Amino acid sequence: MTSLGVNIDHIANVREARQTVEPDPVPMALLAELGGADGITVHLREDRRHIQDRDVKLLRQTIRCRLNLEMAATEEMIAIALEIKPDMVTLVPEKRDEVTTEGGLDIKNNRLVLYEAIKKLNSENIPVSLFIDPDSEQIQISKELKAMWIELHTGNYANADWKLQPKELARLIEATNLACDLGLRVNAGHGLTYQNVEAVAAIPGMEELNIGHTIISRSIAVGLLEAVREMKNLVKNPRRDMRIGNQT
Ligand code: PXP
Repeated sequence: MTSLGVNIDHIANVREARQTVEPDPVPMALLAELGGADGITVHLREDRRHIQDRDVKLLRQTIRCRLNLEMAATEEMIAIALEIKPDMVTLVPEKRDEVTTEGGLDIKNNRLVLYEAIKKLNSENIPVSLFIDPDSEQIQISKELKAMWIELHTGNYANADWKLQPKELARLIEATNLACDLGLRVNAGHGLTYQNVEAVAAIPGMEELNIGHTIISRSIAVGLLEAVREMKNLVKNPRRDMRIGNQT
């Protein structure tokens, strides 16, 4: 059965839009766990545009399901991972000017950096997953670099129109088969939605899907009505004996 990793970066995006304390992704992760998340995924970006170091530390102390730390293979991030000890690290490419992780890692041209990063993390018993496009060469090199997992980038499948989607799905199936034959474990994610997720979840050998944007979007849709009702109630019927601060 395929499991679900919930990516909570977009909760932190809303917080950072105001640079305030809400919504706090840490208690929201506990709600995601209650909803059935098998893992929580956060991407600690170099520019700290959404998830902050404090979030990762608190998540490590609070959630009971798996913590998957997405990060670039830089010295700074490796040091943080070695200190926090997530259950898994997913190495991703990172560009400052991108809106989201646009493509998979170019493993072929970054072999040495990735090999060293995997070696350091593995030496502390932190399994590593490489976020790659469904490409046979990238999969084969992932095995050579001693990654335990790969995460297949599902962006092309998710963005394809109905004519091209079967071809993109076939690429994901073929990539999963090859990876399983090589003894790699397989996750996938990026751009998956309530409309397109099932075909990917049904791929034999697919262990976990990491999904963020569509779940956080849906939570606004299912939660907004109640949130407005609560506010309307306060605005319409304010408590007349309300005390602010230390007034007695
Ligand atoms: N997996 C990886 C490696 C990602 O970088 C992302 C996006 O942060 C996701 C999964 C989740 O993608 P989405 O938010 O589109 O569901």
